[in-house]
Parts: sequence; C-alpha cells; structure tokens
Amino acid sequence: MEKYLKMNTHVLHINPLQLDIEKITLAAACIQQGGLVAFPTETVYGLGANALDEAAVQKIFVAKERPSTDPLIVHIAELSQLDIVAINIPMLAYQLVEAFWPGPLTFVLPKHAQIPPNVCAHQDTVAVRMPSHPIAKALLTAANVPIAAPSANRFSRPSATTAQHVFLDLDGRIDFIIDGGTTEIGLESTVLDLTQTPPVILRPGGVTVEALRNFMPDVQFKSVHLRLEDTPAAPSPGMLSKHYSPSASLYLFIGHPERLLTQMHETAQQWMADGKKVGVLLAEEDAPRFASLSVEAIFLGRQANLQQIGYNLFAALRELDNRGVDVILVHEFERDGLGLAVWDRLLRAADGQIIRVE
Ligand code: TXA
Ligand code: MG
Repeated sequence: MEKYLKMNTHVLHINPLQLDIEKITLAAACIQQGGLVAFPTETVYGLGANALDEAAVQKIFVAKERPSTDPLIVHIAELSQLDIVAINIPMLAYQLVEAFWPGPLTFVLPKHAQIPPNVCAHQDTVAVRMPSHPIAKALLTAANVPIAAPSANRFSRPSATTAQHVFLDLDGRIDFIIDGGTTEIGLESTVLDLTQTPPVILRPGGVTVEALRNFMPDVQFKSVHLRLEDTPAAPSPGMLSKHYSPSASLYLFIGHPERLLTQMHETAQQWMADGKKVGVLLAEEDAPRFASLSVEAIFLGRQANLQQIGYNLFAALRELDNRGVDVILVHEFERDGLGLAVWDRLLRAADGQIIRVE
C-alpha cells in the first residue's frame, strides 16, 4: 500500500446555521487543487476529493488505507450534475430524487466515462448522492465539481460522526477538516442499486426500507449481513466482512430478549474473572440489570428510540475503545425503521462473533 505524505491538517470551524463563506471558499479551492477535505454531511463525515481528478481520488485511498477494490460515493450539489456522473438514468431515479434528495439515499447507476476508474473500483457503475447538510451543500457548490467522499474514518474503524473522530483517524494525512459539529443521523446513507430490476438495497441506512417500499414495493435486499438470521448457527469468523469495527473484540447477542440479558451479564462476569476489561452497549432500560457490575457501560438510548441508538452508536464504539476495553458486549435491537441500519452495523462490527440465546 502506498504511503501517505505527512502534512499539516488544518481545522476550520464552521457553524452550519451561519456559514462562513471565506472558510468554505478556502476548502473548495483545496478540492479544486486536488487536495483532501473532510466535511460533515447529515449522515457521517466524508473525506472529499474532486471526483473528476484521478490523482486526487487516489489520495483518499492512501489516507484511509482503504483497499482500491472498495468504490466511493460521488456527491453532487444539484440535479444537473447527475448527468456528468451517471448515464442511462431511469425514470424511477427522478421519482426517488423528488422524494429523498437532498438526503441520505445513494443510487448505484451506470457510470459516465468521465468519472475516473478508481472512484468506482474499476467497475462500470457509480454511486451518487446529493447530501442535505448545509456545509456539504455549500462546499459542493463552491468547488463546482462532484466530490468523491467515503466516510472520513481510517479503513475498518467506525465512521466519524464528529470532527474529533476525523482528527484522531486522519490528522497529518489530509489538508482540511471542516468542523461543523455532530452529524444529525450518525449512520451512513442507504445504498440502492438502480441498475438491477427490481432495485436492490446494498446497504440499509438513513432512508428506511419502509419509506423506499412506498415507491418500490418490490425493492430487494442483497446484504449478506441481513440474511444472517436465516443461518442455523453462528457463521464462522471471516464470513462477514470486517467493518465499522472498534479495536476491542465485539460480541453481538441475539435471541430471547430476557434470557439474552442474563447471558450477557454472565458472559461479562466470565471475561472479568479472566482479567479482561469489559465494555457494554446498552439500552437505557437495561441499566438496573448491569448496575452491580463494574463494567464500562454506555447507554445508546431508549430501546424503542432507534433514531437515538443509531445517532450514538459509532461514537459509543469509539468511546469504549478510548476507555481501553478488551471486549464489547451488545445486544440486538428492533430492526424496523433505522433499526435495520443499526442491525447491519452491529453485525459488521461483530465480524461473525454472534452469540445466539434461545
Ligand atoms: O452517508 C454516506 O453514504 C457517507 C457520506 C460521507 O456520504 N459515505 C459513505 O461512504 O458511507 P463509504 O465509502 O464509507 O461507503 C460507500 C458504500 C460502500 O459500501 C461501497 O461498497 C458502496 O457504497 N458503493 C460505492 N460505489 C458502489 C458501486 N458502484 N456499486 C456498489 N456499491 C457501491
Ligand atoms: Mg465507510
């Protein structure tokens, strides 16, 4: 893997409600000159480069230590830019644009020839979305080019939901970080493949499946992670790609809600008896069950508030790493609404370490 050039990373503080045009212009000029700028979107922070500049895009892979086989999402400011990114755009895309753009929905479409091959991992499709965050919009408009931007974390780390997370992962590797506060959703966009009929959800995210079904009753799923429940036993490690992972080993407990808490409690005690430092991610309702254990506990939110659980998830994984835990125990939550994206991220973080409680 190519090594990044050590550089000074400048942090620009911008209030999303009162945009500082001078700072936006500075960051946009950096993008135009082939530099790297991390910026907030409504989902998570992105690490941006001019999507039409192959060498600039290459720097993203190097800075993140991301394999070149993992394609990037291209961000646009307005609908007229869709035609410079993709071709053969179906009518359905425009209907979805009406309903969900700007917002956390990414389309996979046939790629335009002028998008360099490294953006799309040398495939003939491209992922594209129009973000709604005021800073992302202003940066895209000022740069006046589509911006390729994966999540602004180092490869296989949890996505960054604050500028501090970006700084910890990428300081010295990128030109600018725009600090616009904590991202609103905290989970990445929904990736929808429109090159297949019916369309296929490749990654659940900020736009829910329920909302998409209103437009496409026949929309399909093709995430290995989501089909796990169909498997009879826990899959072998390695079957699920490692992603969104904290440094600590994460175990995901699934199954009977009551017995699962008992099992989690016992497992925590066993690890502690082995001299391990244990972290738990809990719903607020779980508090009494774990009060007597000296574990590092983080409460994600009320059980039913999947929006809040999603908002807190990545920051909580990073926080448990900061506290130096060896293992993290977490249980599943409901899978409707944003809960499906939460489930997907937990499965990936667990990397096959699933404990099923009957
Ligand atoms: O919310 C988001 O989507 C954030 C913000 C910054 O926009 N971005 C993000 O990017 O999460 P990244 O690179 O972490 O995830 C992009 C996802 C990956 O799962 C990638 O495999 C998929 O989109 N993807 C990109 N291009 C694709 C393509 N041509 N075909 C299929 N999947 C694609
Ligand atoms: Mg990512």
